Amino acid sequence: MKKSLILSAVLALATTSAYAEDLSQYSNESRAVAMPFMKQLAAANQKAISEGGPESAVGVCRDIAPKMAGDISLQTGWKLSRVSLKVRNPLLGTADAWEQKQLQSFAERLAQGEKPETLEAAEIVQEPAGKSFRFMKAIALQPGCVSCHGSDEQIPANVKAKLASEYPHDQATGYSAGQIRGAVSIKRPL
Ligand code: HEC
Repeated sequence: MKKSLILSAVLALATTSAYAEDLSQYSNESRAVAMPFMKQLAAANQKAISEGGPESAVGVCRDIAPKMAGDISLQTGWKLSRVSLKVRNPLLGTADAWEQKQLQSFAERLAQGEKPETLEAAEIVQEPAGKSFRFMKAIALQPGCVSCHGSDEQIPANVKAKLASEYPHDQATGYSAGQIRGAVSIKRPL
């Protein structure tokens, strides 16, 4: 009796630490994919803005971001996307229930003083479609983002017109620098 209790305690401990190891290993691997994606996207955006102004960069953002995400998904076999609670592109950016929960918790953690760069979530989840590792890394709004995601006065008229025609259901405005715009989300089948 005693022996089996000890054995099950040891087994439980082993399972917990194996889970913790998986989580940190999977998180490191996901971060190594998410970070360059965010950096390359920001660089492409900046380049487009400096070459043709924010109005032309709208098109770059529309074409480049989903293409980069799609390429990474093909290469890794993981689903990579950018999600938000207030989306510009509802087709690609709408958060599912798990993602919504994490985005809400990111906003709370930010309000409690946590730095945007450290806001991450990682969990192994069992869903009807199967088991997967899910990872999210917050995307904070930088000062350079307000020309397309900021207040009414911050978005130039030509950008507003372009956004209105390409994204009639746009909700992704009214942000200020330092707020959480959304997150990179990775779903890796296990
Ligand atoms: C030139 C205009 C422009 C700038 C500047 C810009 N964005 Fe966007 N953003 C867009 C467009 C257009 C989309 C929709 C892309 C698509 O169709 O997938 C978008 C979508 C997003 C999304 C995906 C979720 C959603 O709402 O669809 C995130 C996250 C995002 N932007 C964050 C940022 C951040 C952070 C910055 C600053 C580093 C930034 N954006 C700068 C135009 C811009």
